[in-house]
Amino acid sequence: MELLPYKASDNEEIKQLFTKVFSDSEGEAEGRVIGNLTADIMTGTDTQDLYGFVATENKQIIGSIFFTRLRFQNRVNNAFLLAPVAIHTRYQGKGIGRRLINFGLDRLKENGVEIVFTYGDPHFYSKVGFTPISEKVVKAPFALTQPEGWLGQSLVSQEIKPIAGNAYCVKALNKPEYW
Ligand SMILES: CC(C)(COP(=O)(O)OP(=O)(O)OC[C@H]1O[C@@H](n2cnc3c(N)ncnc32)[C@H](O)[C@@H]1OP(=O)(O)O)[C@@H](O)C(=O)NCCC(=O)NCCS
Repeated sequence: MELLPYKASDNEEIKQLFTKVFSDSEGEAEGRVIGNLTADIMTGTDTQDLYGFVATENKQIIGSIFFTRLRFQNRVNNAFLLAPVAIHTRYQGKGIGRRLINFGLDRLKENGVEIVFTYGDPHFYSKVGFTPISEKVVKAPFALTQPEGWLGQSLVSQEIKPIAGNAYCVKALNKPEYW
């Protein structure tokens, strides 16, 4: 298995991967939503606001992850949001998701990113260093339907310091239904 940054020529294969994985886990409609979201992230996000990585096996993409910039009103934090991530259904539960996420976090850290947020299952993301955050400490871009899923980790210190003001995600994620 290889872990590497994604290329624009991977776009269609990555979209298909997300569509298939989320169709398998959450039904076809959700598969389409997440496939389209991933395509929007790849085509509609400035390169300085985007990191994407793939896991490959025999040149086939078996996993993928995206991180997009999260801006705050104070403009000082170098922050990104992890979403979405998928491992091919056949390859799940073998540690590939954990390795891909950690690979991505290491690349972001090398590039000076200070803090990473995500919105998902606290049980899973706690295995890769995320802890729950109160929206009073750091606001999410939208009102959250599941506030317990708002998670973060600092790449530069032990704890997450409060960040004042509103948070703004990239255009592809800027829809209340994703939150
Ligand atoms: C969630 C996902 C990315 C995890 O990747 P994976 O390769 O299957 O996970 P790993 O094998 O690396 O597991 C890492 C740890 O998380 C746990 N874990 C895996 N999937 C989990 C889940 N859905 N819920 C809770 N814990 C989970 C594993 O038990 C493992 O813990 P352990 O090492 O202590 O045993 C993958 O299963 C997937 O694509 N699922 C469908 C899409 C999805 O839900 N994406 C995440 C939301 S954006």
